[in-house]
Amino acid sequence: MSKNIVWHNATVRRKQRNSNNGHKSVVLWFTGLSGSGKSTLAHAVEEELHQLNCQTTVLDGDNVRHGLCRDLGFGEEDRTENIRRIGEVCRLLIDTGVITLAAFISPSSHDRDQVRKIITKKDFIEVYVNCPLEVCEKRDVKGVYKRVRLGEIKEFTGVSAPYDIPDKPDIVIDTEAETIEESLNSIMRVIYARNIIQKKKI
Ligand code: ADX
Repeated sequence: MSKNIVWHNATVRRKQRNSNNGHKSVVLWFTGLSGSGKSTLAHAVEEELHQLNCQTTVLDGDNVRHGLCRDLGFGEEDRTENIRRIGEVCRLLIDTGVITLAAFISPSSHDRDQVRKIITKKDFIEVYVNCPLEVCEKRDVKGVYKRVRLGEIKEFTGVSAPYDIPDKPDIVIDTEAETIEESLNSIMRVIYARNIIQKKKI
């Protein structure tokens, strides 16, 4: 970190923004293999919350890597830096009052723990999007698994690079067995149970 820099406190703070918005700001962090359904779910939750007049945004692995993280690859160090930057963006967004839906493979439990620290535990809801590799590969929505098997993509999570299954996720979604609606309902139940939004907002 550079020297001679001093933190400037905002006068309009998260509390006021949350109060104006009528809901709390948190991060829902979707982690799981490529093709497990993280982005689909994050967008489904955003759609639902948007209908309820909430301030929301989705941060998605492939999109963020087109801009903010375009200089990063998929080696261990770069993945760590990818997740660190996103963690910092999430912190800015929740300070701005936004319910942030972050969909990243984020294979390293250590990297996810770092984000949990940046954001603080109470504002970080870990959603493990569980789906067997064979099913993700069968779906192959982006055609990446085909390219992996042809040897065109190295260090691919779940095939030739590790994925750490979350120890104590706040929510587990099983996208092989559940419909999107069922998964969405499980997530919304937690959002209500934690008073992130109030039932009366409907
Ligand atoms: S992470 O591991 O650093 O969290 P991130 O979520 O940003 O990954 O990006 C994942 C997306 O990048 C995948 O959905 C896939 O389309 C693409 N991708 C390209 N190469 C790889 C790779 N080696 N491992 C995993 N995903 C890859």
